[in-house]
Amino acid sequence: MEKFIIHTEVFAYDHPDELDPKEAKLLESATEAMRNAYAPYSRFKVGAALLLEDGKIIKGNNQENAAYPSGLCAERVAIFACGANHPGMKIVSIAITAGSLDFASDHPIAPCGACRQTMLEYELNQDTPIAVIMRGRSGKIYRCEGIKQLLPIFFHEDGLKLK
Ligand code: THU
Repeated sequence: MEKFIIHTEVFAYDHPDELDPKEAKLLESATEAMRNAYAPYSRFKVGAALLLEDGKIIKGNNQENAAYPSGLCAERVAIFACGANHPGMKIVSIAITAGSLDFASDHPIAPCGACRQTMLEYELNQDTPIAVIMRGRSGKIYRCEGIKQLLPIFFHEDGLKLK
């Protein structure tokens, strides 16, 4: 038997001013995106904003549906919009913010497992990390250097490449 310990790093900030200005701006874009979320069922609005290598910002927000599983998380709306409209463009970072219409959201929200797996695919393809900045409506801001920090043991497609 062998035991291995996985090390992950999360940096916590008290205020957006402590971030790189580009990432502070990206967090504002995620907050703008959150306002347009379509979340009448959960009443939990999530916004995501991607910073691309050419400086463009791509926004997404959660889109729900009366047939519940048909909806999609903000992160995947943003990352698929990026893949669809800016293929081959590297993603530098993603900011994610969220807030409930019913209760205070004063801590960072972390992306769900399916969104982590989806973002990881793009990170592996571009071969450079995608930094993740997370915040609730208020409170601390978390920052990870890359998606692997959030998903250290992951599924990857090597076994699917049939040659
Ligand atoms: N949601 C996201 O948009 N991103 C996540 O990472 C987790 C959850 C959305 C899905 C649903 O519309 C609402 O939040 C409640 O789960």
